[in-house]
Amino acid sequence: MIDNNDKSSLHNRWNMRILGIYFSNGLKRIFGKNSGRVIAIIYLAFCLIFWECRYSIWQPYGYFQNLQKFMTSVLVLILIPSVTFALTFLIGMPFGSIGVSNNLHRIGFVNSAGEAPLLLSKSVDKSNDRVMILKFKTFGIPLSEWTDNQDRIESALNIHIDEMREGDDCRVVIIRCVDGENRLSDYIEWSENLLSDENFEIVLGEGYSGRVSVNIAKIPHMLIGGSTGSGKSVLLKLVLMQCVKKDAKVYIADFKGGVDFPPIWHIKCSLLTDEKTLYKVLVSITDELQNRKQILRTAGVANIDEYNRNAEKKLYRIVFACDEIAEVLDKTGLSKQQKDEILKIESELSIIARQGRAFGIHLVFATQRPDAAILNGQIRNNIDTRICGRADNVLSQIILDNTDASDKIAKSSQGRFLTNSGKIFQAYWFDENIL
Ligand SMILES: Nc1ncnc2c1ncn2[C@@H]1O[C@H](COP(=O)(O)OP(=O)(O)OP(=O)(O)O)[C@@H](O)[C@H]1O
Ligand SMILES: [Mg+2]
Repeated sequence: MIDNNDKSSLHNRWNMRILGIYFSNGLKRIFGKNSGRVIAIIYLAFCLIFWECRYSIWQPYGYFQNLQKFMTSVLVLILIPSVTFALTFLIGMPFGSIGVSNNLHRIGFVNSAGEAPLLLSKSVDKSNDRVMILKFKTFGIPLSEWTDNQDRIESALNIHIDEMREGDDCRVVIIRCVDGENRLSDYIEWSENLLSDENFEIVLGEGYSGRVSVNIAKIPHMLIGGSTGSGKSVLLKLVLMQCVKKDAKVYIADFKGGVDFPPIWHIKCSLLTDEKTLYKVLVSITDELQNRKQILRTAGVANIDEYNRNAEKKLYRIVFACDEIAEVLDKTGLSKQQKDEILKIESELSIIARQGRAFGIHLVFATQRPDAAILNGQIRNNIDTRICGRADNVLSQIILDNTDASDKIAKSSQGRFLTNSGKIFQAYWFDENIL
């Protein structure tokens, strides 16, 4: 335990450390750039001239000329280092940094010695001038505590945080954010030129700092949750539309007879409307997975992207999607035989969830109630992209492992989502006829 005396001595040392930190930060900023080095040399030359000309500026006269000269020299010797230190300190101290630390102090975001993080630098992102990059010295507050307190930090500093990560070492935290006055639009229409050129990057919507996307070649499976009317189906279709446009083979399980998917989807994708067909298709997909395993092994490559780079006949990606996965996997009230059928489906889905990535086979599920009884651990734990729309605490906890969707997404929002990496975005609205 730290008592009050310890706290006050730590606080005094903290003040000294601030001086030291901003001074060395200033040195880094000056000598980190060529222009800074040139200015430093000019400044040094100016100091030398100033030293040489000190008796011309303060001309000794009358008696005690030697004493006057000595005093002038001492004065200049004090003045030059002091001004140099003050200038370096000011260059190292970002504008408003003391205010930032005070604001963090006010909300109690401090370490056990009562020290708030210190702003080291504030810059504008080169790729997007709306985005600010704030770099903090954490003074022992770990990144996990920053993320847990994101709401409070946003409110204290009047910013919307897009991303928080560790800097060069674990004593530095970097925040990408936009000014608190920025708003996300409630409606952003999809347009063809938003389709990403990058291999299997799927664009989802607009976040505070620009486009939000997920690359399914890297993070293969996706789970979209949210209460009714939150915009899950629109987002799921947005994802599938892009998969179709990127020449993936898309299967959609819809036990409502495919009514939620207008005719164009039936042309471009394979709609699976009953359990028997669904099971057959899943078996054919897992067979294809085994087949691809053999193909990649023979070719001596690790995944389908590497294989496709040199292959004449390229392997296409396969996407299996379901708009309400509970409709397929819910076993409540079913007979033993029906439960066995579902267990068989579950086992095929588990294989895809575990092994699909390297072989270009993906799962995209949407759901209102993804509890453990419906989505087993093997499937859930392998779905790394989790996105939640408007939701209550329980649903948000199940999808994101925290209650953030319930806290951050207004109850009236439609098409507004939060990812498990903490990015909030407005999903693009798109007209299904453009498929
Ligand atoms: N990206 C979006 N931008 C603007 N409005 C949207 C967006 N997505 C959905 N909406 C609005 O929300 C309504 C419901 O969307 P959607 O059918 O996708 O919800 P849902 O979560 O699938 O609901 P349910 O669980 O009942 O199927 C849409 O009809 C539309 O008016
Ligand atoms: Mg829906």
